[in-house]
Parts: sequence; structure tokens; C-alpha cells
Amino acid sequence: MSAQLDLVIFGGTGDLSTRKLLPALFQLHRHGLAGRLHRIVASGRSELDLEDFHASVKSNLHAFLPAGSWSEEVWDTFRQRLCYTAINAGSAEGYHALGKLLDEGEAPARLFYLATLPSLYGEICQQLQAAGLVNGDSSVVLEKPLGHDLASCREINEQVSRVFAENATFRIDHYLGKETVQNLLALRFGNPLFQPMWNNTFVSNVQITVAEDIGVEGRGDYYAKTGALRDMVQNHLLQVLSIVAMEPPASLKPTDIRDEKMKVLRCLEPITAANVKERTVRGRYDAGAVDGKAVKGFLEEAGYQDAEGTETFVAIKASINNWRWAGVPFYLRTGKRLSRRYSEIVIEYRRQPFSLFANDPNELTNKLVIHLQPEETISLHTLNKKPGLTHRLRLQPVELHLTDDSQARGDSYDAYERLLLDAINGDQTLFMRRDEVETAWHWIDSIIAAWEENGTPIKKYISGTMGPNASTALVAVDGRAWYE
Ligand code: BG6
Repeated sequence: MSAQLDLVIFGGTGDLSTRKLLPALFQLHRHGLAGRLHRIVASGRSELDLEDFHASVKSNLHAFLPAGSWSEEVWDTFRQRLCYTAINAGSAEGYHALGKLLDEGEAPARLFYLATLPSLYGEICQQLQAAGLVNGDSSVVLEKPLGHDLASCREINEQVSRVFAENATFRIDHYLGKETVQNLLALRFGNPLFQPMWNNTFVSNVQITVAEDIGVEGRGDYYAKTGALRDMVQNHLLQVLSIVAMEPPASLKPTDIRDEKMKVLRCLEPITAANVKERTVRGRYDAGAVDGKAVKGFLEEAGYQDAEGTETFVAIKASINNWRWAGVPFYLRTGKRLSRRYSEIVIEYRRQPFSLFANDPNELTNKLVIHLQPEETISLHTLNKKPGLTHRLRLQPVELHLTDDSQARGDSYDAYERLLLDAINGDQTLFMRRDEVETAWHWIDSIIAAWEENGTPIKKYISGTMGPNASTALVAVDGRAWYE
């Protein structure tokens, strides 16, 4: 691997770059982790003067860096790495100017980060190649969404693969960059304590919740055509599920980990018109209040008046048909304008076959609760004796916290810092391989087709609640409740 690398960001003045990529790069620079990174070349459609570009990056960093991260001194050195060049994705001119800029820098390796509309990915790759900018040490990062369904995803992958080999293609799912998602690998495969009980003999069900309190935030065009299933389940929830459910990999090498995740995705039981009614719930938020503030309903928000067919909430009862997980439901749910922002995985263990204790209600089960955000913590819910003379042998729940203080503070780093660092260093472990993304789309497409065939209704829910009542019913029919 060559020593120095130039990073070129397409969509360099867009929302993702402003909120996530540039702050993450600043942080890597500040922590001295961006060693291999030589220059950052942002590109956008507008012609911008470098001074103006720097001024706008500076003010955005002030707005989006975590509190306490700004340093004038760090900015002075960071700024020197930061260039700008205007490129119109479809016209060769800008690519030649980019080529000149890259040649001047003399960094042999190149990483192209595509944070534009995915419909432009093929064109950009082809233009890069035509302009001779893709050398033997070049790779590409692709932001989600990778298509709208399996066919469009395949088309993008095909176009990109004509220019970049699979081992030079980094497909981002920022959930894989979250500390606790990676910690799952350590927890599962570093502790003999959990491994023997990680199966259908001991686990009764798994719940994965990604709840957001924000609404659709003016992403009209994108979200109206997308909905929660495509926006969140196809990628983030299925990636988390595959890490929870995978077999121990042969090693921690990217191929071995991705092979095991892939096997889980292949074992997902298809949801079809025959079972979609019992397996899924679609919802859409109505007006309500979140965090004490009144908020509008989805259809009242600008740009969404005609989006009656778009869900902002989805709950699914998924099954993984393999030896380890047959018979264990994986309940997934995600939605916008829910009561609060949190993401967590709950592994609920089976009850003991016979109880010796008088007070042993259903909710007193062992659970492993993995909080992904806002806290990054793991806790084991166990039972012990209610203390005191008055209670002979009665049970009470106790939580054992398995996280160290820095993780509990939740202030470690942003997922994009982890992922950018890995892409810069050429480590593909936390990126999705082509077959994973396409298999996930295959499963999602079948749900969408089943919704269409059955005319599955979208149930309303009041903003600030945890989704439609039907979501409670989805798990209640199995004698369970969502862990909240
Ligand atoms: C993105 C979705 O991928 O993830 C957004 O497009 C969503 O709709 C976001 O808000 C959630 O990410 P996080 O890290 O804030 O949970």
C-alpha cells in the first residue's frame, strides 16, 4: 500500500460532507490519525473561490463538530490539506482539472468518495476512468442508498465494477462504524461465556429497535420515494441483524466476517403475500408532540402532501432459517417521530423450565441489552434476591453493566471517523460487500411486492409515541412486548 493518499469527495459541499465527512476528517486530523491522508479535494457543481470554500467549511465545522473539539491551531493545518475543484458529474472538463490537481500533489494513492445522488455513481466512475484518474492504487467509497430495489442496485454495482474491483469498493453503512456494533464482535467471540448460549436453545427472541425522534427533515424528494423499509431496514437493521446472528468467522479478516454475515442474509425467510399481514406493520406519523414540542404530521410537511404511500415506521417479525436460529423471532422496528431517539438490540433468554420462586412474572427474564445510541453501553439483566428480612426468596431484576466508562459517556467518536479511517487504510471489514447488499435488497423487494399485492394499509400513529398499535400487536400475539 502506498504511503500517501489523496481523498476526493464528490458532493463535497453537500449535506453529508457538511454534517459528517468534513467534521470526521477534522477529528482524524486533530487526533493525528490521518497519517496516510495527504490532501482532501472537495468537489461540487459550483465554481468556488478557495478562500470562500475554506470560510464556509470553517463555519460548518463550528456548527457540527462535537463540543470542545474546535481548535484554531488544528484548523490552520487542516485547512492546508483542503482543496476545492468544481466538477459537473457528466462533463469531462472538471475531471481534467481534477487530474491536474492530483498530479501536482504527487500522492500515489487515490480514494474517491461518492456522496452524490447514487444515479450519478456510474457516470462519475466512467468519467474518472476516461480522464485517466483511476490508477492501480485507487479505490471508491459509495454512500447509501445503493439503488431503490435489487435491479437498480445491480445496475449501480455493475457500472462501478467496470472501473473499480470489488476489493477497491467500499460500500458504507454507517451503522457498522458505531462502536457498540463492533463491540458485538468482541462480546460474542471474545467471551466463552456468551457463545454457548447464543442460539435457539437459550434465546427466546431478539429485538432490534432504531427509533428516531426527528421527522423527515425536508428530504422530500428522497424520502417520499423511499420510506422506512428501504431507508433503514434494507441496510442498517439488516446489517446489525447479520452481526448478531452470524456464525463465528474463521478469522477477523474482512472476507471471513463478510462470508458469515452473508450466510445469515441468505437464511432470512422470505416474507410474501401469504404471511406479510402477520409479519409486518407499516405506519405514518400524524401530528403530535415530541419532547414537549408540537410537530406536524408527515403528510402536512412540505413536499410530502402526495406521499400517502410512504411509510415512516415499519415493524417486522423476521425469521432466520438455520440450525442456530430456527424458531427464534427477530423483531425489527424503526420509525421517525417516535418518543425518543435510541437504538438497541435486546437478546431475551428463555425462562427456566420450572420456577422455584413465588414472584416470577413473565417480564423477569434474563436479557442482554446492547444500546447503540445515544449511550454506547451493554447491560446484562439478571435476577437476584430481593434483599431484606421481609422477603424470603423473592426475585428482583438487577442490571450488570459490561461497558467501560469511556463507552458509557458515549463521547468516543462518530461512526464516520471509524469508516473514513478504515477506507483510507484499505480495510473493508466494516463495509458491505456487493452480494450482501444485493441479497438484502432481494429480501426487501419481496416485502414491497407483498405489500403491493395485499394493499397493506399504512397505519397512523401520533408523533411522540412508539408507532401504531399494530406494532404492539405484532409481538403481543407471540405473548411478548417490545422492550422499552
Ligand atoms: C440514514 C437515514 O441512513 O440514517 C436517515 O437515511 C436516518 O433517514 C439516519 O435519519 C439515522 O442515522 P443515526 O446514526 O442518526 O441513527
